[in-house]
Amino acid sequence: RAVAIGIDLGGTNCRGALVSQSGQVSGWRSIETELTDNLTVFLKSLTVFCQDLRTAAAEMGLDVVGIGCGAAGVVDPSGKIRSAPNLQLLNRFDLQGHLQRELNSPALVINDANAIAWGEAQYGGGQPFDSFLTITLGTGVGGGLILHRQLWQGKYGGAGEIGHLAVEAEGRPCGCGSHGCLEQYASGQGIVRTFQELGVGRGANDLDSFGIADLARQGDPLAQKAFDLAGRYLGQGIAGVVNLLNLEGVVFAGGLSGCLDLLLPSLEQELARRAFAVNRQQLHLVKSCLADRAGILGAASLLFDRLEHR
Ligand code: BGC
Ligand code: NA
Ligand code: ZN
Repeated sequence: RAVAIGIDLGGTNCRGALVSQSGQVSGWRSIETELTDNLTVFLKSLTVFCQDLRTAAAEMGLDVVGIGCGAAGVVDPSGKIRSAPNLQLLNRFDLQGHLQRELNSPALVINDANAIAWGEAQYGGGQPFDSFLTITLGTGVGGGLILHRQLWQGKYGGAGEIGHLAVEAEGRPCGCGSHGCLEQYASGQGIVRTFQELGVGRGANDLDSFGIADLARQGDPLAQKAFDLAGRYLGQGIAGVVNLLNLEGVVFAGGLSGCLDLLLPSLEQELARRAFAVNRQQLHLVKSCLADRAGILGAASLLFDRLEHR
C-alpha cells in the first residue's frame, strides 16, 4: 500500500506521519522545532525524523512514495522558503530540493497554513464550503485560501498571509519586517505580550497563552482582556478579508483554535462593526475538527496529486 510522509513544520513543533491516499494516518510523531538555531543541526534532525517514518513504513509493509511538507513561511512554487518570520533559520533555504536530495525521494514543500487549508478542504471543517479561509493560530498566525475548491497560493506562493495584515498602523514590530501585524496580537506570543503589558505592576509571570486561557476561563479580567483584544484584531482582519472576497467560511486551526470560545465574542462584535452585512450574515466561523492532523493530511494529499499529474 502506498503512503506519503506528511510533515507539518511549524514555528514550535515538527509533526509527521504516514498518510495513505485516502487520508489514513499512522506512525504519528512530533519533535520540537526550536531545538537549535544551527541550520545544519536542524536539517540533520529533520532527516532523522523522515528516516524514522520510513523505517516505520517498512515495518508496516507500506511503500513510501514521497514527502509532502508544510513549512512555516512563504514558500515559492519551487519549494524554496522565501520568508519565515517564525522559522528564521530556514529563510531563503531550498527545503524541497534539500529533502529530495537528502532522502532521494519526491518531495513537495508548501506554506504550512496552505497545507492545513487543503487538509481542511479535503477532510475537515472546510468540506461544505466552496470558498473559505483557514486561519492558523499558533506560534504565528497563518492563512490559507480555498477559492472555488482550489488552493489559491498566488503567483509566487505568497497569498493568504493574513497574519501580516496591519491592524495597528504603528504597532508592535513584526518578524516579517513590518509592524502592527495581526500576528503580533493574535498569536500565542502576541497574547502573552498583551497580557504582560496589561499586567504591568501586577508582578511578572511566565504564563504561556494556554495558561492565560485557563486564567481567563477562571474569570481573571486581565486574561480575558488579552483574549478579547486578540479577538478584536482577528475580527478586524477577517472583516477586511470577507469584504474583499465574500467567503462562505473561516476555519480556525492551530493550537490556539482550542481557545476560539474566548476569542469569538469580541471577534464577532468587530465583524459586525466592520464587514458588510452580506459578507458576514452567511459567514460560518468554525473550528477545525482535525486537531493537528490537517497540515500533514493536506501536504500528503498535494504530494499524491503532484505525483499523479506528472
Ligand atoms: C508566516 C506564515 C505562516 C504562519 C504560521 C506566519 O508568520 O508568515 O507563512 O503560515 O506564520 O506558521
Ligand atoms: Na498561507
Ligand atoms: Zn508581519
